[in-house]
Amino acid sequence: MILELKIDRYGANGEGIALYNNKVVFVPFALKGEIVKVEILKEYKTYYNAKLLNVIKKSEKRTQPLCPYYKICGGCNLQHANYKEQLKIKETIVKNNLEKYAHCNFNLNPIIESNLIYNYRNHISFHVNKKGELGFYKNSSNDFIKILNCHLANNVINLCISIFNNYFFKNHIKGYDKKTKQGLIKLVDFKIVNNKMLITIVSTNLILSNINQLVNNLKLIGVEFGLFISLNNYNNTLIYGQVNKNIFGLKEICYNEKDIISYIGNYSFLQINNYIKDLIYDKIINKVTANCVVDLYAGRAIVSALLSKKIKKVYAVEIVKEACFDANKILADNNIKNVTVLCEDANLALLKINEKVDCVIVDPPRKGMERKTILSILQKKPKQIVYLSCSSNTLARDLNIFLQDGNYKLTLVQPYDMFPNTANIETLAFMEKI
Ligand SMILES: C[S@@+](CC[C@H](N)C(=O)[O-])C[C@H]1O[C@@H](n2cnc3c(N)ncnc32)[C@H](O)[C@@H]1O
Repeated sequence: MILELKIDRYGANGEGIALYNNKVVFVPFALKGEIVKVEILKEYKTYYNAKLLNVIKKSEKRTQPLCPYYKICGGCNLQHANYKEQLKIKETIVKNNLEKYAHCNFNLNPIIESNLIYNYRNHISFHVNKKGELGFYKNSSNDFIKILNCHLANNVINLCISIFNNYFFKNHIKGYDKKTKQGLIKLVDFKIVNNKMLITIVSTNLILSNINQLVNNLKLIGVEFGLFISLNNYNNTLIYGQVNKNIFGLKEICYNEKDIISYIGNYSFLQINNYIKDLIYDKIINKVTANCVVDLYAGRAIVSALLSKKIKKVYAVEIVKEACFDANKILADNNIKNVTVLCEDANLALLKINEKVDCVIVDPPRKGMERKTILSILQKKPKQIVYLSCSSNTLARDLNIFLQDGNYKLTLVQPYDMFPNTANIETLAFMEKI
């Protein structure tokens, strides 16, 4: 069915929404105010999914996307909107999620802009196809798209793509195929900080032929780097395999992070937008007032290390042992004695901390927190709870549980544009005990 519709608002993923037959129609890549021709792809009980065929009346906020893979690769979904409109869309998404899932009509702070709109990503993973070419999967599909340059990635990472493609091609190294279980390579992961890079090849075999060819060609880029093979024979495509072998060069990146000697390993979590990360850390450090802080989902405990200068006692809780290794190294090298790293699940660690806790900071993965962990925090009755999230959807769901307790009020919700050109948003929320 082909329809002509007027877009009157935005959905949770930044898509345009129109009304037809008393049902909402989701139209990806359409902007508010536009009149668009769409094809209905599927009808559901309460809504339709549609494909944008053409824009009949264009919004003045529409821009020409930079990327040739836009709409195909699934990585970006807001490149068609100018930056000001992207920011507005994101504020709307956070506000709507808070209303819908946390049942609160909170006055959020205006979103904080990124300094870079392109090439801001300092961490990115590429899948590898059967031909040994780097690329991405289209959104929630198995359709692979070969990528020669990603406009979101740091440019040094982009220089590596063709080097990998050539190396895999010349040595007949293929991407792993989940169905046939043939091929070797599951992912190639890049992290870059201060012009130093860690590259991890996630492979079903630790031996890759002529790996020196690859090392020599990567050297030509002129950036100091470390190359790892992560042996992953599990049924997943995560970077974390059972063996993590340094093949060449840097074993970690050591750099100065706000006057802390800091380390990033190839398995550590790295906030992908350096500029926004610094702003968020500053906000947390300035606003937290406590004697004892628990920093849950701490990664390499950099927030704990920064807090150690003003807080008496900090517990950093992180489940990945390599990240805990980096955390302990950061603490030792900075002679920080008042931070303890607990390498375990957030909830289990909370149950073991017997001290009076005044503030709990959480920064969980996209899927949010387990209910039992939220309840364990509430039992500790901290006077401050800080929630950093890369999904305003799960943030709002979890805030609802915190707020239902009745003892906390939301005092600040600050969205940050950590991920320009995508509908993803980083949000920092503060709750204080009533
Ligand atoms: C979004 S990252 C936050 C990292 C850190 N706050 C930072 O800014 O670098 C989430 C971290 O939570 C860790 N994690 C995931 N599930 C966990 C769990 N159940 N218990 C403890 N840590 C967990 C991940 O390994 C990851 O390092």
